[in-house]
Amino acid sequence: MSEPRQSLHGEWSSRWIFIFAAAGSAVGLGNIWKFPYIVGENGGGAFVLMYLLFIIAIGVPLMMSEILIGRRGRRNPADSVRALSEESQRSKFWQITGWFGIISGIIVMFYYGVIAGWGLDYVFKAAVGTFDGASPAAISQLFDTMITEPFRVMFWNVVIIAASVFVIIGGVKKGLETALRFMFPAMLILLLIAVVYAVYSGAFMTGLNFLFSPDFSQLTAQGALIALGHAFFTLSLGQGAIMMYGAYLPKRVSIPRTILLIAGLDTFIALLAGLAIFPIVFAHGLPAASGPGLLFKTLPIAFGQMPYGSLFATLFFVMIVFAAFTSAIALIEPAVAWLIERFAVSRKRAALLVGGLITVGSLGSVLSFSHPQTFQIGGLSYFDFTDQLTANTFLPLGGLITAVFVGWMMRREAVRDELGMMANFWFQAWQFALRFIVPLAVIIVFINAIGLV
Ligand code: TRP
Repeated sequence: MSEPRQSLHGEWSSRWIFIFAAAGSAVGLGNIWKFPYIVGENGGGAFVLMYLLFIIAIGVPLMMSEILIGRRGRRNPADSVRALSEESQRSKFWQITGWFGIISGIIVMFYYGVIAGWGLDYVFKAAVGTFDGASPAAISQLFDTMITEPFRVMFWNVVIIAASVFVIIGGVKKGLETALRFMFPAMLILLLIAVVYAVYSGAFMTGLNFLFSPDFSQLTAQGALIALGHAFFTLSLGQGAIMMYGAYLPKRVSIPRTILLIAGLDTFIALLAGLAIFPIVFAHGLPAASGPGLLFKTLPIAFGQMPYGSLFATLFFVMIVFAAFTSAIALIEPAVAWLIERFAVSRKRAALLVGGLITVGSLGSVLSFSHPQTFQIGGLSYFDFTDQLTANTFLPLGGLITAVFVGWMMRREAVRDELGMMANFWFQAWQFALRFIVPLAVIIVFINAIGLV
């Protein structure tokens, strides 16, 4: 079959647009804010190693399945799965994965915009030179003060939510694409600047050791669950987001190569963030287990001491907000798409409704920092609760269901057809991962973590 020539170019550029969109959803607060802080709380190297293992053995195979479902189904996540289960004569039950996506997207947004809001506050702090020459103690204090100002945080949070809703309504897709093209290089450069600073001025070797030399006595069942959950969270898996993007992927694009690129970039950015942050932690004797404030208490120290620091700091926090923003859009979109399709409401109304719901739901996260006694659920702060419910519960469950569906339920020919030229060995390795490794790992980690409580 001969194809028109220009489609060649079209598909090449679509592949890159897809990569940018998927990477834009994957690279976010998870990489720069969450990864370093959970590494710090869970003892360093052994946790990092486990996380890398989960990315390779679970994240990559699952991401391939999600794209495969989306590209073959060509619809929203729930309907794609339904279409594929019909194709393979399976029950409608499997579309439940789409539900997980819609619900967990919204619950993640109950705190995601709050953290992005902190970042936005820091853009302005940086721009007026607040960090210049400030002592580590003063910088810690800045953060502790900020998070207990609910009106300030809520204001920034609403700005983030409103901006996301605005983009979702208007479909400013083109602008977003261009911006993404510039965001990744800029983010890499700024992170590298921070790492170079860490090499020269921080306790770089101590940081490197902390991140990469595993001390297995630090490994806990809870840590395993957090590493597993984060592998899902950081790649935006278990949530239908990648399925949604996969639906627009041209048929001839190689799924495995595309995934390796996205997963590689995502992991690289997370590790760079760790390399920038931990040398500062150890150079200034800060606790590695500083929790959600880790990023905000460390990097401003570095920026405060380097030449043109306030410029770099401003750009850096702009990047963080931007990375969060591209993820937020992908978190909100499934719920909006679902409302439009099921209830025939307009895009505008659907987006406003979801935005309103998120605004109300995120109040609990804002207040859980200023009024920790009141805003808690089952001994966890509201913020921690929403994070753990999604990253450590819903996402792995959604991923487990997807793995079982693609590994055991879908017709083999359909799967083979979608993956195209993949070498037999890798195809079998992939199928083995879906059939056995993903389900067993999720179940074992769950059982262990529950046994601990
Ligand atoms: N991957 C994003 C991050 O690391 C967060 C995220 C989780 C996400 N699930 C998602 C983003 C679904 C978009 C869609 O910050």
